[in-house]
Amino acid sequence: MEMLTRRGFIWQSFEIYGGMAGFIDYAPLGNNLRRKIENIWRRRFVVEERAVEIDTPLIGVEEVFIASGHATSFNDIAIECKNCNRIFRADHYIKEKLGIEVEGSLNAIKEALEYYNVKCECGGDFKDPAPISLMFSTSIGPGKGRKGYLRPETAQGIFIDFRRLLSYFRDKLPFGVAQIGRAFRNEISPRQGMIRLREFNQAELEYFVHPGEKRHENFKKYAFDVVRLLDKFDVEHRITLKEAVEKGIIAHELLAYFIGKTRRFLLEIGIKDEKLRFRQHKDDERAHYATDCWDAEVLLSIGWTEIVGIADRTDYDLNKHIKHSGEDLRVFIPYENPIKVKKRKAIPKMNKIGPAFREKAKEISKKLSEIEIEKDPEFIEVKVDGEVLRISKEFFEIQEVEEEVSGEKIVPHVIEPSFGLDRITYSVLEHSFDKDTVDGEERKVLRLKRVVAPVEVAVLPLLSKEPFTTKALEILELLQSAGFYTEYDDSGSIGRRYRRYDEIGTPFCITVDHQTFEDDTVTIRDRDTTKQVRIQISQLISALKELLSSGKSIEEFGIPFR
Ligand code: GLY
Repeated sequence: MEMLTRRGFIWQSFEIYGGMAGFIDYAPLGNNLRRKIENIWRRRFVVEERAVEIDTPLIGVEEVFIASGHATSFNDIAIECKNCNRIFRADHYIKEKLGIEVEGSLNAIKEALEYYNVKCECGGDFKDPAPISLMFSTSIGPGKGRKGYLRPETAQGIFIDFRRLLSYFRDKLPFGVAQIGRAFRNEISPRQGMIRLREFNQAELEYFVHPGEKRHENFKKYAFDVVRLLDKFDVEHRITLKEAVEKGIIAHELLAYFIGKTRRFLLEIGIKDEKLRFRQHKDDERAHYATDCWDAEVLLSIGWTEIVGIADRTDYDLNKHIKHSGEDLRVFIPYENPIKVKKRKAIPKMNKIGPAFREKAKEISKKLSEIEIEKDPEFIEVKVDGEVLRISKEFFEIQEVEEEVSGEKIVPHVIEPSFGLDRITYSVLEHSFDKDTVDGEERKVLRLKRVVAPVEVAVLPLLSKEPFTTKALEILELLQSAGFYTEYDDSGSIGRRYRRYDEIGTPFCITVDHQTFEDDTVTIRDRDTTKQVRIQISQLISALKELLSSGKSIEEFGIPFR
């Protein structure tokens, strides 16, 4: 963390006013690293899928979160000290003080507090534990305004746009909708730097499917990948995804597909496979909307930490929004061949309805014939022009009719891979941090994957004087125009400058030296091996492009130097 602050990855927000827990500033290098991770995520989870990305407001009207359940159910259990009045998140406090994992329910926490006689850090007693909402509320508009909340997840913006999204996808399932953006949770006592933030960055994909078709046509890409799974009974498996589905450890192929895809993405950006596992939520641990959830967890200095949640949210959210908004968010699924179905219908007697209801007769008979009848009713109520009319049985007769049905309406299910970008960014940094010995001295090096390095190439004059500096600045401009993220540095010895760029994970340094003025070549130095080759300036751009998008070695591009 010291290095991340000193070198310009992240800074404490509001630092000159004493800071505030749960908020961070992305400094230049951290900002670039997170953006690069975001862009790779976008490629993998939007571009490569039948999916689109949208961007909806950070503030939502209250109705959205009443429907989703967040307004009432999105709580953590807190404990407040009677003596010093400090408030802690109960499960975290118990884990920190006693090393014991308790599930987050009110009863479990009450029992644990009593059983272990848990006291506050100041020695005081705690009041009874109580749920505290994690929602940030606000009011929209002047005066009393309309109640709103900062969104606790980007997902709801997608669910409430569902009708329009369905039509964008020509009414056909499956399809995915992604959103990358800020979300907010008023955490009770965030104390873990980038891991638990009150304002954080999510990348979420909501993948809508027919409930009976939780499969993916590209599952074969990952079917034979061996993954480390910890199931809800705490049993560990190292198993292929195909086998995990066949044995019922993972409930269906679509969850397994996203576990496989998530793992490949995390490896691509620099998470270490040996420090990665997928842990299934226990039955009492899942969010209110999920029937199954697998977290990608990484091993960090603070222990196993969730960085992605892959949940089966079923039709929970769409059903809630159907109920609360009154909108029909169902999808019409046509049958391959229309089927004949026998129905009992009310057949209107037009010779009686006409004279009795005059201009309303046509609409009444239309409404009557749409209704399916179970018992023989004395009357049927229909709504015409906003008025409910009671039509007695003398105006219709009940008959069994055979109708052709061409399809059915269903509420789709949604599988949601949800990524915490701040945690992922931090994990990539921790997994990349390394120390080795170079020229008899300890070196700190960030072995970032080339594709995420915030500074891709540094341009260094061997000596900080003419003509080295002008030539180096010329090369800097050349690389900038070609779209590389570059830095120029002429302060301090060349050895110190190499160390500086090693520490921030810059994969390549270009050095202008004496020979540059003889044959138009420069040296390229590889961060990991510290080896150097000489290359023609005219070939620099194409070589760097290839090097940065592959694992190729610099030796393929120039003549070894020294
Ligand atoms: N959308 C899942 C979450 O925010 O936890």
